[in-house]
Amino acid sequence: MKITIIGTGYVGLVTGACLAEVGNDVFCLDVDQRKIDILNSGGIPIHEPGLSDIVARNIAAGRLKFSTDVAASVAHGEVQFIAVGTPPDEDGSADLQYVLAAARNIGRHMNGFRVIVDKSTVPVGTADKVRAAIAEELKKRDHNSGFAVVSNPEFLKEGAAVEDFMRPDRIVIGIDEHTPDGQRAHALMKKLYLPFNRNHERTFWMDVRSAEFTKYAANAMLATRISFMNELANLADKVGADIEAVRHGIGSDPRIGYNFLYAGCGYGGSCFPKDVQALERTAREYDQNLLVLQAVEAVNDRQKRILGAKIIERFGQDLSGRHFAIWGLAFKPNTDDMREAPSRVLIEQLVSRGATVAVYDPVAMEEARRVLTLDFESRPELLQRIRFVDTPVNALEAADALAIVTEWKTFRSPDFDRLKSMLRQPVVFDGRNLFEPEIMADAGFEYYGIGRSV
Ligand code: NAD
Ligand code: UGA
Repeated sequence: MKITIIGTGYVGLVTGACLAEVGNDVFCLDVDQRKIDILNSGGIPIHEPGLSDIVARNIAAGRLKFSTDVAASVAHGEVQFIAVGTPPDEDGSADLQYVLAAARNIGRHMNGFRVIVDKSTVPVGTADKVRAAIAEELKKRDHNSGFAVVSNPEFLKEGAAVEDFMRPDRIVIGIDEHTPDGQRAHALMKKLYLPFNRNHERTFWMDVRSAEFTKYAANAMLATRISFMNELANLADKVGADIEAVRHGIGSDPRIGYNFLYAGCGYGGSCFPKDVQALERTAREYDQNLLVLQAVEAVNDRQKRILGAKIIERFGQDLSGRHFAIWGLAFKPNTDDMREAPSRVLIEQLVSRGATVAVYDPVAMEEARRVLTLDFESRPELLQRIRFVDTPVNALEAADALAIVTEWKTFRSPDFDRLKSMLRQPVVFDGRNLFEPEIMADAGFEYYGIGRSV
């Protein structure tokens, strides 16, 4: 099948590459010339395990192309995926300007039947707006090719995106099928996803609004689990319980399950924070307050400050003359994505109180430098207090303590003797509960986990 992907970011690039991998002829469009140039010269603009091989293989096979040519992209695919960003607006609602710009471009250039697939995470009702934007452009041109707008939200996780896309636990497709165009769209979507349904059917067919809602419901539920565990962890710290033992104790109940119950220094990324806010915003438009989600967001804002709070409690409010090592900058392992990363909050807490920090991440160094430079644009003297180092060991030198923010595998078994000898004081603040408190105590460390003060 001929497929167009509009927006070649995390979701668009993975979708395009994986659809090419199963034999489709895929054209990826982006407005960012730099990204397209990188892809056309054999590079890859993001860190995502396994992706560069698939991209290279499918470019070589002639099934995957990258371009900024809007007219050519609309001419290419009978199915057009919209996978552009939907960042938060000033009021927290999803900013639909990129989605609607993509829709208008389709309306301006289409010359035959098109299925337009909303893959971006968009609020309930967006398909109607996309449909109206396309119809308006078609009317201006006095052109009447048929089209259908489908909702097909994406559930992939960064760092495991290729695996998630190739072996999805579900494929949600929302189509309003009461028109011939809707029925045609159903047939095309079924054919497109056939290779991903080989062993058993994973597709849930539903109406468009339910599909749009499902995406927000999923992220809101996951974010709720995390904030709930974080709140319990903070209480566990006070009452002298171990949140890891509690996690096992409750996760064994199949109604609860083990996944996504890890307490830590808060959730980040481009999705949970913005999607929780956007769902709250949608509810407010309908005069409903989502009280649980308001708490989920408030708990997470506080949790992102928890490592800083523990450090301040230990070393005092005035951190001038103090130096800290920070391991892990990306919002989670296996990605270089720094969007809403808890590390940014911790660094601000420390340097604004006079400390200096030495920071290290296995893959996000370049992105971290870019993002932190922007974070401290109006306070360049604070940026001077951040030293970017090229190994975890180099971060430790003369540090008063080590803070771990991201659970990269390479941090799991450090040389503890070396760690102790390099730190000025053997103090570890572990924002992802990588280590066992008892073992750390036996090894002579002053150890602070999240919810592990047994
Ligand atoms: P991203 O910022 O990485 O990529 C978006 C891309 O769209 C950018 O390259 C941008 O230049 C391009 N773009 C913007 N306007 C365009 C236009 N008019 N025409 C062509 N290209 C245009 O975003 P992302 O992380 O891939 O997220 C995309 C959407 O998918 C969001 O709605 C997000 O919530 C959702 N989502 C993301 C993930 C994830 O893990 N990142 C997972 C599931 C869903
Ligand atoms: C999340 C969802 O897991 C995906 O299903 C969804 O498609 C995606 O958002 C999206 O809509 O964009 P992602 O943000 O890539 O994926 O990463 P997650 O693995 O969900 O982690 C998000 C954050 O939660 C990270 O900061 C992570 O450290 C934190 N987290 C996760 C916890 O603190 N505890 C946990 O138990 C799990």
